[in-house]
Amino acid sequence: MKVEDVKKICVLGAGLMGNGFAQTCAQAGFEVAMRDIEDRFVENGLNMIKKNLSRGVKKEKITQEQMDTILGRINGTTDLKAAASDADVVIEAIVENLDLKKKVYAELEEICKPDCVFGSNTSSISITDMASATKRTDKFIGMHFFNPVPVMRLVEIIKGYETSDETYQLIDGLSKKLGKQTVLVNEAPGFAVNRLLLPFFLEAIFTLQEGVTTVEDMDKAITLGLNHPMGPFTLLDFVGLDTTLFIADYFYKEFQDSKYRVPTLLRKMVRANNLGRKTGKGFYDYSQKPPVPCSFR
Ligand code: 3HC
Repeated sequence: MKVEDVKKICVLGAGLMGNGFAQTCAQAGFEVAMRDIEDRFVENGLNMIKKNLSRGVKKEKITQEQMDTILGRINGTTDLKAAASDADVVIEAIVENLDLKKKVYAELEEICKPDCVFGSNTSSISITDMASATKRTDKFIGMHFFNPVPVMRLVEIIKGYETSDETYQLIDGLSKKLGKQTVLVNEAPGFAVNRLLLPFFLEAIFTLQEGVTTVEDMDKAITLGLNHPMGPFTLLDFVGLDTTLFIADYFYKEFQDSKYRVPTLLRKMVRANNLGRKTGKGFYDYSQKPPVPCSFR
């Protein structure tokens, strides 16, 4: 299949990343099915897209008519078969759980057209492992996007053990059609970006735990000292502390290296459901405007 042959994209998951893909793909002119397991998740995803596009209309970046056309290309559904059976590419952004992902891929294997390409947006899980749940290991690839998807310019493309060059060329072309730039990465936990981001996050939390500095000062130091758009604690809250903990535990297990040990503070915060922006509290308290740093024990 060539990139010109891709007409319909099935997005699995309507969460933060999923609704970002759906919007980005629809903006690039593709027909999109955005599937989640419950109506309320689909509704939330569609509302996020409407909110983002409305902001674009208000800023006069797009017209109301363009917004309506983009929304008209997106079909939100809970029906996996209807969403995936005639899709040319599936982009999966469901929860980071290998067993669950493998179960969905095994179902997709039965539902999808034989030439449909499966792309996973996993932040760290092995592409080869997930591909093994299908019979199309050559048509299975990692497509790692960054949050917020419509804004961030990179797609990391990850080749699994048996991913074909044809699949790589297709997904590279598709990512460019979505307005992104790409880098090719050979499979390894965390790929390229998260391989660096994760130790950065963990070390920031260790400094806080050890009383080296404060949330506000570390964020100030990194934004001003390194010109990052967000300091590590703001970014941790943005990414989600549960996602960060998952990646850290995965790194520790896969690399068998103590440098990926998890600060106890991170684990405690996840246990307390202080996951960042999505729960209203993480390193900052988002019930206050502007958000204020939380105190830690
Ligand atoms: N969805 C869609 N668009 C958004 C958005 C969102 N959630 N948030 C902001 N935007 C758009 C705005 O509409 C605006 O668009 P415009 O330039 O066309 O007007 C543009 O982004 C800039 O937004 P703002 O002016 O409101 O705010 P900022 O200038 O502060 O930018 C930011 C916001 C783009 C989020 C910026 O702070 C940033 O780049 N932060 C770092 C983000 C980052 O590092 N992401 C990667 C996380 S790691 C990851 O995703 C991998 C995973 O595996 C862990």
